[in-house]
Amino acid sequence: MIPLPRVAPGVAFSPIPIRRGMRVFVLTGAGISAESGIRTFRDAGGLWEQHRIEDVATPEGFLRNPPLVWRFYSERRQQAGLVSPNPAHHAIARLGDFLGEDLFVCTQNVDPLHERAGARGVLHMHGELLRTRCSGCDRPSFEDDRAYLDRPPRCECGALLRPDVVWFGEIPKGMDQIGAAVASCDLFVTVGSSGAVYPAAGLASHVRNFPSVRTGRFARTIYVGLERPENAHSFDECRLGKAGELLPDLFKLEG
Ligand code: APR
Repeated sequence: MIPLPRVAPGVAFSPIPIRRGMRVFVLTGAGISAESGIRTFRDAGGLWEQHRIEDVATPEGFLRNPPLVWRFYSERRQQAGLVSPNPAHHAIARLGDFLGEDLFVCTQNVDPLHERAGARGVLHMHGELLRTRCSGCDRPSFEDDRAYLDRPPRCECGALLRPDVVWFGEIPKGMDQIGAAVASCDLFVTVGSSGAVYPAAGLASHVRNFPSVRTGRFARTIYVGLERPENAHSFDECRLGKAGELLPDLFKLEG
């Protein structure tokens, strides 16, 4: 039987030894950016307390009221220009410098803070705030930090442009790559995610239930965040505390 997770304040645990060649999967959620001043979704005062998900984060909401949806994401774009990465983003970038391609960083966040900390190859499974795409044609998405507060922009093809983010009811990006990285990791770490939104919340459970296809051994699964996530049963350990305080000492990089 799979044992229950050990849930305790982060300081009660030892750092995780990281050797070169170890495959590490890091999944981040809104909690990692909270200390940079970006609001989470489901905490008190979170974004979904002030807006209806159906209105601003579904394809149907966009069809009903494009100006409202663009205002919502434009305000997030304006905020993104003002924020900086915190020690948690920097700790993950340092881990990437040490492990190279053996680190797979997958974020549910649409903000650019991992990249601003120097992380490379981050997979934004829920898209990127600072990119725009067409809702009608297959023109590739493009970098765009403009705010459209009054009139939603249109593509050359005539259809409305939309933020290149993944809304509820849409398929997250990069699922093949994510599946391959999950199946072959030696360590799986989630940082700051309530574990309420699938498929992201199901990744830890996969790792805990199936051995690595590469080594045949089970990977360790670790959660780091303010409180016990909804999918706590999928982790060996839940280390409770702020990401910016726990991440800098979470990994012990060994030569
Ligand atoms: N350090 C670590 N964790 C924190 C911090 C912090 N400083 N502050 C808050 N948290 C934790 C909260 O306790 C909560 O469990 O971060 C988590 C944030 O959860 P959510 O707001 O639900 O965000 P997330 O899990 O990333 O949401 C997933 O849902 O709404 C959609 O597409 C949106 O990508 C998002 C997805």
